[in-house]
Amino acid sequence: MTPARTQSLIPSAARVHRFTYAIRNIVAEAQKVEAAGTRVRYLNIGDPVAFGFKTPPHLIAAVERALRDGHNSYGPSAGIPAAREAVAAEYTSHGFPVTPDRVFITAGTSEGIELTLSAVVDSGGEVLVPMPTYPLYTAVLAKLDAKAKYYRLDPAHGWMPDLDHLKSLVTPATRVLVIIDPNNPTGAVYPTETRRALIDFAERHGLLILADEVYGDLGFDGAVPPYGLLDPDAPIISFSSLSKAYLAPGWRTGWMAIGRSPRLDDVVEAVRKLADGRLCSSVPMQYAVAGALGGDRSHQIVFRKELKARADLTVSRLRAMPGVSCVAPTAAFYAMPRIALPPGRTDEHYVKALLHATGVLCVYGSGFGVSAEAGFLRIVFLAPIDELTEIYDLMAAFTAQYLANA
Ligand SMILES: Cc1ncc(COP(=O)(O)O)c(C=O)c1O
Repeated sequence: MTPARTQSLIPSAARVHRFTYAIRNIVAEAQKVEAAGTRVRYLNIGDPVAFGFKTPPHLIAAVERALRDGHNSYGPSAGIPAAREAVAAEYTSHGFPVTPDRVFITAGTSEGIELTLSAVVDSGGEVLVPMPTYPLYTAVLAKLDAKAKYYRLDPAHGWMPDLDHLKSLVTPATRVLVIIDPNNPTGAVYPTETRRALIDFAERHGLLILADEVYGDLGFDGAVPPYGLLDPDAPIISFSSLSKAYLAPGWRTGWMAIGRSPRLDDVVEAVRKLADGRLCSSVPMQYAVAGALGGDRSHQIVFRKELKARADLTVSRLRAMPGVSCVAPTAAFYAMPRIALPPGRTDEHYVKALLHATGVLCVYGSGFGVSAEAGFLRIVFLAPIDELTEIYDLMAAFTAQYLANA
């Protein structure tokens, strides 16, 4: 017998409506363009493997070995000891002393950030987040019913944080300062004075510092040191992963390293409790961490060189387009150019028009929280140089027409 049914829609929770994820949302639009027969060039997601960069073979071998050796059961919730020891040794060797009992192996940087924010921010708590932002922070804070307070990164000053604006946002409810350095979406690396000023600011207000250092090994001039080096006794938690600098984003394997300050002891225990609740992160992948951090890293030298060449091409081609400006990135694989939009036009309008006319897919700056009229967009410049050249040819022709016809 068929049970009695109501026909009403099962509603989704309100928290889901408190954020959007432009990086993936724009793909739906691109699929329509593709279905209509235009080749789409996806410059929207920062995945080096999708553009042909190869995961180092010794990491693949380590995972294969782990699978064959039967490491297919649940592991310790904080991660396998060899991985935690490797992470602790890596930070310690860079002047940020970390012990393995304060390291957690997580499903990417993403899970570490979610665990930490869940462990420290109550409903209504406030978190200082850079703007433009990486959308994960907004999404997690929406889930926690907490509040993101956005501090400006200033394109007129090389996308450096606006410290006066940051200071103006502190209230008694502020708990955390999020720093993304090297930065997505701007590609900026902050100089030491700025880094020190951010740490001093956090210390003055008793804030926990979340240092998102997932691009730390991808400075064009070499690896960028961790924040903890500048003040090992400040309440700093660093996050990174195998996703970017080790070319294995699909493995969803990362780590968080909690500084030695006793002020963080309670946070360590809170994260441990939450980590217990999700059992463990994927175990076989964890067997690649020690070999990644302690083994051959020559792929990073090549990768940094490839990125620098793409960044140089990107900046010179963009700056040659009338009406387009671009701060030169110094790390990672993102650039955030600005189109001098005519009045009444938005970044989303430009990005969608570019997509429909040329198949080139970028993400509009308002997807990262900046004003839609400001005309920013994010380009992922991981495609091969030849293809990037074609893409910038298409973009130059389109933009000239777009601005002329406005
Ligand atoms: C600034 C930033 N943080 C975190 C992440 C998430 O990385 P993971 O793959 O380590 O979760 C990304 C991914 O693009 C990122 O750009």
